[in-house]
Amino acid sequence: MTTVVQRWDIHPEHPWLRGERPDSPVQFDEAQGVWNVYGHAECLEILGDHATFSSDLTRLMPVGVDESLIEGDMSQMDPPLHRKFRSLVSGAFTPRLVASMEEQVVDLTNGLLDQIEGASEIELASALAYPLPVIVIAELLGVPADDRELFRKWADDVIESFSGFSFLDDSEQGVQSVQSATERLQPLRDYMAEHLTERRARPREDLLSHLAQAEVDGERLTDTEIVNVANILLVTGHITTTMTLGNTVLCLDSNPEQFARVRADRSLVPGAIEEALRTLSPSAALARGTTTDVEIGGTTIPKDQIVMMWLAAANRDPARFPDPDVYDPTRDPNPHFGFGRGIHFCLGAGLARLEARVALNALLDRFPVLRTNPDNPPSFFPTPDMIGVNLLPLRTS
Ligand code: HEM
Repeated sequence: MTTVVQRWDIHPEHPWLRGERPDSPVQFDEAQGVWNVYGHAECLEILGDHATFSSDLTRLMPVGVDESLIEGDMSQMDPPLHRKFRSLVSGAFTPRLVASMEEQVVDLTNGLLDQIEGASEIELASALAYPLPVIVIAELLGVPADDRELFRKWADDVIESFSGFSFLDDSEQGVQSVQSATERLQPLRDYMAEHLTERRARPREDLLSHLAQAEVDGERLTDTEIVNVANILLVTGHITTTMTLGNTVLCLDSNPEQFARVRADRSLVPGAIEEALRTLSPSAALARGTTTDVEIGGTTIPKDQIVMMWLAAANRDPARFPDPDVYDPTRDPNPHFGFGRGIHFCLGAGLARLEARVALNALLDRFPVLRTNPDNPPSFFPTPDMIGVNLLPLRTS
């Protein structure tokens, strides 16, 4: 049977998306100077050991990173600082608060789908998968959801500009591309800084106002830290959710029997989303830096090396998942790493799951037929460490 990956030729550079396993779960990539990790057991070990595998990579990068770009970015921090920053934001994502947002997510979804009522062909990303998560995060933060086209441009800029270079490339060209990526981020930073100034003057009931007043170790956060926290939520939080909804529909489309089952039994919707996160993982890779020599999967990685965990490959490890390339919404257990694991486990996982569940159910309610169109195929983010639909045209009859 042709899988969704073969059908749309998703990331031809990743053989492990096509049933081929790397020779070893840990391999050194001489060209990039990084250690690639593909095994589930090995990734699990790394994700559970933040002392040996640090999230702070700045010290390992020969190309100077503009410090102001990452100040406040909890995903690049280790404890104890990580815990402090995470606790500042985690209050906005408690299971109770996320559950209380369901009604709002349902209303937003219906409002967006009303606009494409009766259309014989829809483009899922622009109609629903992109605007839904971005409106939810913008409202949570307290920035105008009407500016969403701007956020989309900035998100694309961030993804594009940070995909074309390596922080390890210290040639003149490498240094230049880091500089240009930094410059492309500036409009987003200016935008957020402007809203922050406004919230400092007139606080409201939103996350930006909360961050403006929050303290870490008795000190207020700096403007740069707050702007970066807000940008991470706005940019990285939404695009991954967009991809998850699109990827789930695409997986179902390529597996008509499973699609019919999920349509008939909506209790399978959450499983369909989890299985899409496993087989087409939006966050396909995560980086860590070793703080000491360490043996992993029988290979010794020296101190001060960059380790790339290929979560998307670990999510297809036959040692952990029977028939790993089969899309099965009833798979149980399904211990995938789509949202990471350990102390950096995705803060927005509950919200992303809620949005994807509401959106998929609404699509199934409204459209008795949803199918891809070979004459107008989907397109994907080209970045190797992201797997996800960028445009998804669908026929509704
Ligand atoms: C389906 C959608 C999403 C996927 C696939 C995803 C994936 C991930 C992954 C793999 C990590 C772990 C990073 C690491 O260990 O280095 C992570 C962390 C994070 N995610 Fe998500 N994410 C999604 C949605 C969201 C949303 C909606 C938000 C917030 C609005 C969000 C906010 C965060 C934050 C703040 C972190 C950093 C947590 C920390 O370092 O402690 N994510 N996400």
